[in-house]
Amino acid sequence: MKTLLAPALLLLAFAATAFASKKRPVIGLSLDTLKEERWQRDRDTFIEEAKKLGATVIVQSANSDDTRQVRDVESLISRNVDVLVIVPHNGAAMTRAVKSANDAKVPVVAYDRLILNANIDYYLTFDNVKVGEAQGGYAAARLPAGRTARIVRIYGAPTDNNAKLFKQGQDNILLPLIKAGKIEVVHEDWALDWKPENAKKIMNAAITKSGRNIDAVVVSNDGTAGGAIQALQEDGLAGKVLVTGQDADLAACQRILRGTQAMTVYKPLKNLAALAARVAVDVAKGKKPATSATLDNGAKQVPSIFEKVISVDKENLHSTVVADGFHRAADLK
Ligand code: BGC
Repeated sequence: MKTLLAPALLLLAFAATAFASKKRPVIGLSLDTLKEERWQRDRDTFIEEAKKLGATVIVQSANSDDTRQVRDVESLISRNVDVLVIVPHNGAAMTRAVKSANDAKVPVVAYDRLILNANIDYYLTFDNVKVGEAQGGYAAARLPAGRTARIVRIYGAPTDNNAKLFKQGQDNILLPLIKAGKIEVVHEDWALDWKPENAKKIMNAAITKSGRNIDAVVVSNDGTAGGAIQALQEDGLAGKVLVTGQDADLAACQRILRGTQAMTVYKPLKNLAALAARVAVDVAKGKKPATSATLDNGAKQVPSIFEKVISVDKENLHSTVVADGFHRAADLK
């Protein structure tokens, strides 16, 4: 039985790759992780749109492991995909995988996160600096006047280029206020791998170090905001301290309505994911999709597209996230 099965499987694999003609392209989608809600949505929309365009998608997820993601990409290349779409766990570590793709003449689209110092063909993302400005701006506008406000800053994964851009956006707003003595940063740190438990530890450390007297926690995404809020809850501070986020995760939107998180940044994922599928199919067919910008990734000026983001709080949650079909009103309760 075993001996019959093996050649049959081989034949199937051969048939799958043989059908990878440009008319029905095969796309390799390599994800860092599927743990956060957003990436599951990105994947689902991407596959749906690719299907409509007659393409097939092979998905790999690396569980935040660089070695595994390099292996994932190499395995996709060996399965003869026509194009690769990559969300890197680590924008620097994926340079090597892109080199393998270049050698195999497989075009590469970086999705959401940039791959550094690599010959990638396209980069599709949101305006990440604007995300940081929305977070910093929201907090700054609501800090107490007449005294120096005390804030904690929790950044994202230091291996993610986006995390630096979110910080840069926050800095654009906060640094002048810090310099003017209006804000004091009582504690700051980077949450490794964007893990909520790491953000919780940072928040615990902040409270231990500087006491309960904290006005705001500028956090870079909803997952880590959840971790910080857990720490605040343990000290009876949840709802009393302004907390920012990003992604409009369901749990974060519920927290916003309950008052333990002040805001999130909504990124219309269906626009970006569907666009990425169209770009991938075009690239596989040898077409040149239109882009609106270029970005230097250290190796070249990468043709790029930046989608807009929306700042969301209790006031506009329904007119944005719900109206756009991202969450159903009934699920927010
Ligand atoms: C994405 C965010 C996400 C974070 C953690 C960032 O690169 O832009 O939307 O929350 O990674 O996965």
